[in-house]
Amino acid sequence: MEVSWDSLHAEIMACQKCPLCRGIRHKVPGQGDGRAKLMFIGEGPGAEEDAQGLAFVGAAGQLLTKMIAAIGMTREQVYICNVVKCRPPQNRVPLPEEAAACLPYLRAQFSLVRPRVIVLLGATAARAVLGDQMRITRDRGVWVEKKGVWFMPTYHPAALLRDESKKRDAWHDLQAVMGKLKELESQSSPSA
Ligand code: URA
Repeated sequence: MEVSWDSLHAEIMACQKCPLCRGIRHKVPGQGDGRAKLMFIGEGPGAEEDAQGLAFVGAAGQLLTKMIAAIGMTREQVYICNVVKCRPPQNRVPLPEEAAACLPYLRAQFSLVRPRVIVLLGATAARAVLGDQMRITRDRGVWVEKKGVWFMPTYHPAALLRDESKKRDAWHDLQAVMGKLKELESQSSPSA
């Protein structure tokens, strides 16, 4: 599917493919650099995201902003989105059929952004992108490479807010992301 950002956003705004669109305030397609090397994928919008129509702007989003800063980047330099673009009621985990209905939009975002590295924040993102067998406590911190794109599953920032002891592992994963970006950069830049 060859799409433009405008047509993708229009499709998302008009989407009624699953019941999540009923009762929301705003769709939350995602935002950032549409040509970013690094992409972050979360689960789905929460209350604050639903109110503003922007991904990761609540408490978990503020921690994500710090995580991005910790690797020397800004939110404007990366692309941030979610598996589902509509807030699930009471912030429940999206149902498999809801995630499946929204997946074509995530695929379109991949093909427009063409990131080299994708950070999968939490189990919902890891499972939607890499398969149902993913277990975040077991599989976080381990690179998965597909067609030249590097996927790093790690903890969701909301999990880090609930359990500070996970922050050490998350920092390890972010350092690996920083290292991979440098490695890919050095491979693609012409040698002196
Ligand atoms: N949690 C998510 O997974 N995504 C958001 O945008 C906000 C909180």
